Amino acid sequence: MRTMKHFLKFSDFTLDEFQHLITRTKVLKQRFKQYIPYQPLTDRMLAMVFEKSSTRTRVSFEAGIYQLGGQAIHLDSQSTQLGRAEPIEDTARVISRMVDLVMIRTYEQTKVEAFAQHSRVPVINGLTNEYHPCQILADVFTFIEHRGDIAGKTVAWIGDANNMSYTWLEAARIFGFTLNVATPADYALAPERIAAADKAHLRTFADPHEAARGAHLVTTDVWTSMGYEAETEKRKKAFARFIVDASVMEVADKDALFMHCLPAHRGEEVSEDVLEGWQSVVWEEAENRLHVQKALMEYLLLGKVHA
Ligand code: CP
Ligand code: NVA
Repeated sequence: MRTMKHFLKFSDFTLDEFQHLITRTKVLKQRFKQYIPYQPLTDRMLAMVFEKSSTRTRVSFEAGIYQLGGQAIHLDSQSTQLGRAEPIEDTARVISRMVDLVMIRTYEQTKVEAFAQHSRVPVINGLTNEYHPCQILADVFTFIEHRGDIAGKTVAWIGDANNMSYTWLEAARIFGFTLNVATPADYALAPERIAAADKAHLRTFADPHEAARGAHLVTTDVWTSMGYEAETEKRKKAFARFIVDASVMEVADKDALFMHCLPAHRGEEVSEDVLEGWQSVVWEEAENRLHVQKALMEYLLLGKVHA
């Protein structure tokens, strides 16, 4: 029997597993584009638990499970007992007796880990304060789709040391690329979160232009992530220099792509002309959430399918 797997952080999967997911994503995306039905998850039920807002994650998981023949239940903390302090462990034990798969978006990573520990079914991290593995899976796929192998390339991260940047760092180690990170000094990556094995893949900079120099992909994210809204005004001042604009893209590789997980704040972390410019693949990136997560759900429920 296959052992049950969760996808709580990027490093839960091996390169071999990611290569399988990328191959499957290509197959599933092509079927979707050609209106070829593929429903291996008939009668399978996905529970989606949202303790933070979402557009892309909600739509891509819900549309994805339906397209694969399954169904989804949407839960949030306001309308469930989670908002009235029912322990996450009890919630996990109950929900996982009734569904086949769970996706959770919440605050602390420890909450998805506690859920997974008490779950009878696979659990997917749909974003925590610490990680956003589904997004980086879509981003790596999008890069490979446009430019081929990501191994040996350079990805420049401009902005906050947040859930996205830490997940990029995990991906750099697994896929073998370099991550250049430029953050304001007070918002740098925490040394205790940089594993020894990550160090060979990480270069840190004080200046966004230096981080972007020669990069094959330039990427950023909001200055204030969900849950940190009280810091918004302070962050606006600290991050003012950390905008990805034409001058940043100018020093990157001539074929550099621009990505942003979205939602974007035009004129803050990215200029309008870069977001809407020829190097930007943000809409394909968003669409690919659907395709990679269909491959992910298929893998977690059925293992390595080759059909
Ligand atoms: N990128 C992303 O996860 O978007 P949502 O917050 O809309 O789900
Ligand atoms: N870093 C952002 C990503 C949103 C998809 C946040 O956590 O709010």
